[in-house]
Amino acid sequence: MCGIVGYFGNKNGAEVVVDGLKRLEYRGYDSWGLAAVGEGKLIKHKQVGKIGGFDLKRDLPKFGGEICIGHTRWATHGGVTETNSHPHFSCDKKIAVVHNGIVENYQELRSDLEKKGHKFVSQTDTEVIAHLIEQTLKITKDKTEAVRQSLKKLQGSYALGIIFEDEKLMIGARKGSPLVLGVGKDQTILGSDVPAFLKYTNKVVFLEEFEMVAISDQIKGGYEIKNVNSGKTVKPKITTIKWDATEAEKGGHPHFMIKEMLEQPQVIEKTIGMGKGELDKAAKMIEKAKRVYVVACGTALHAGMYGSYLLAKINKIMVQPISAGELHHFAPLFKKGDLVICVSQSGETADVLEAVKSAHSAGAKVLALVNVMGSSLMRAADFSLLTKAGPEICVLSTKAYVSQMAMFVMISGALSGKISNAKKVLGIAKKDIEKILSKKSLEKIKKMSKSLAKAQNIYALGRGINYPNALEACLKIKEVSYIHAEGFAGGDLKHGPIALIEKGVPVIIFASDDESEAEIISNAMEVKARGADVIGINYRNNEVFEQYLPIEKNGFYSPIASIVYPQLMAYYIALEKKFDPDKPRNLAKSVTVK
Ligand code: M6R
Repeated sequence: MCGIVGYFGNKNGAEVVVDGLKRLEYRGYDSWGLAAVGEGKLIKHKQVGKIGGFDLKRDLPKFGGEICIGHTRWATHGGVTETNSHPHFSCDKKIAVVHNGIVENYQELRSDLEKKGHKFVSQTDTEVIAHLIEQTLKITKDKTEAVRQSLKKLQGSYALGIIFEDEKLMIGARKGSPLVLGVGKDQTILGSDVPAFLKYTNKVVFLEEFEMVAISDQIKGGYEIKNVNSGKTVKPKITTIKWDATEAEKGGHPHFMIKEMLEQPQVIEKTIGMGKGELDKAAKMIEKAKRVYVVACGTALHAGMYGSYLLAKINKIMVQPISAGELHHFAPLFKKGDLVICVSQSGETADVLEAVKSAHSAGAKVLALVNVMGSSLMRAADFSLLTKAGPEICVLSTKAYVSQMAMFVMISGALSGKISNAKKVLGIAKKDIEKILSKKSLEKIKKMSKSLAKAQNIYALGRGINYPNALEACLKIKEVSYIHAEGFAGGDLKHGPIALIEKGVPVIIFASDDESEAEIISNAMEVKARGADVIGINYRNNEVFEQYLPIEKNGFYSPIASIVYPQLMAYYIALEKKFDPDKPRNLAKSVTVK
């Protein structure tokens, strides 16, 4: 969690860094801070709360410098206070550090440094890094080397930005947390991810594990990458990012959440346009595998579950979904010949990356369905299919879910040699979503959401291919509206959940034109008989539905469109309750720590 940005160039670095931090706020928004070198002095600013409304020119007109680092925090070690917010400094206040990750051995390092006379001011693990560099500089005068030596002593994970008062130098480093280098004309930018600086450059270098970069006018080409362990120089691999910078902007919409939901038809269109070659390659990996697992977290896991139903029903292939956070209980059973499909929007989720390691150490192969190009997952997997969501900024995953489901449809099509059919059904889903997103339909959902906002509990039911949507709908609602919401498989209802049903409780029913339609309608009747207000999503109305939300007939592919209704409900309920849909409490978009 946490987002970092660093600027080295000829602009006012603080402006670029503040702008970048606003784009990274989805990674954490407890507090934020900046440090810059302006006229030979290291200056800082720290603040508790979100950076959203901050305007550098208005709020801090004198703050600036051509070298600047910044941080937006999701607290792990130490409470949410100005002191604990980053940057952290050495005793002489000449070294400033921003950090994303966890220094696991910080207590040991801290007590050792305290014995040597260092005075700590915060409760964070990060502060130890600034003091450690300061201490190492007593032995070696070369700052890059002092940082490298210090990094070798850190256990845990880090993405770092480091600057110095007395040298025009910025250092970045990564181990276990993402860090990307943006290489522009006369400027070099560090960011936790690409949208942080996409406005300035689309030429990037994805730092690898244990790599550090020194950025300075004194270095030919402006920067040099080294391996932290060996100290050897690494040749940079520059990638051009095809995302358009405007995709990472709100584009006139009040929130990223609504903007991203409205983009879902284009996401499907882009998925339909995928090349056959890469799909066939993924399909071959599945065909060849002895056993297939799908491993992911949260929304991506729900997409993986959808994929497992689809591959079972259409391709007669058994795919076992496992939550990445629970995987270590099963990973010892992985074998050579197994295939692990990892699904992730960010490609940086710690538990998913751990799954890749477990699979590889057992000799199993990894196929990634991942949205972020150059992400850790993409680099670690044996083969990756890039999902077509484009930059997803809102903490809540909406368009990424639809892109992942659509990708499974294409894979299933490739497996059965019928990609054209996959394109056809995705075309129906796309048109259907366009209807759901029409002005009239949005007004209807908005109106419904007004009364849903008063609910204490909301439930959702689905069977078979619609079950993952019941889980996903409730995840969306609880994440952003803080209403207790739970999704169940229709078949489980009588095994306990029906006890929760009482007069007036909203229950969303996911139905479609497949073999479980009659059974889920029976479930709807059972909950209605106990007083529930039934909201039915189906291709045809039914007298059991109090409120009816139409979708097209699209069989096993109906869930791609039907999920859009609860996504919209979650959004409008949040607005009704005056919550910020882009920044739900306690959450961060990328869970890069376990
Ligand atoms: O980046 P990933 O797809 O790996 O993230 C997985 C989950 O953390 C993510 O889907 C999370 O559940 C979202 N907040 C859902 O809206």
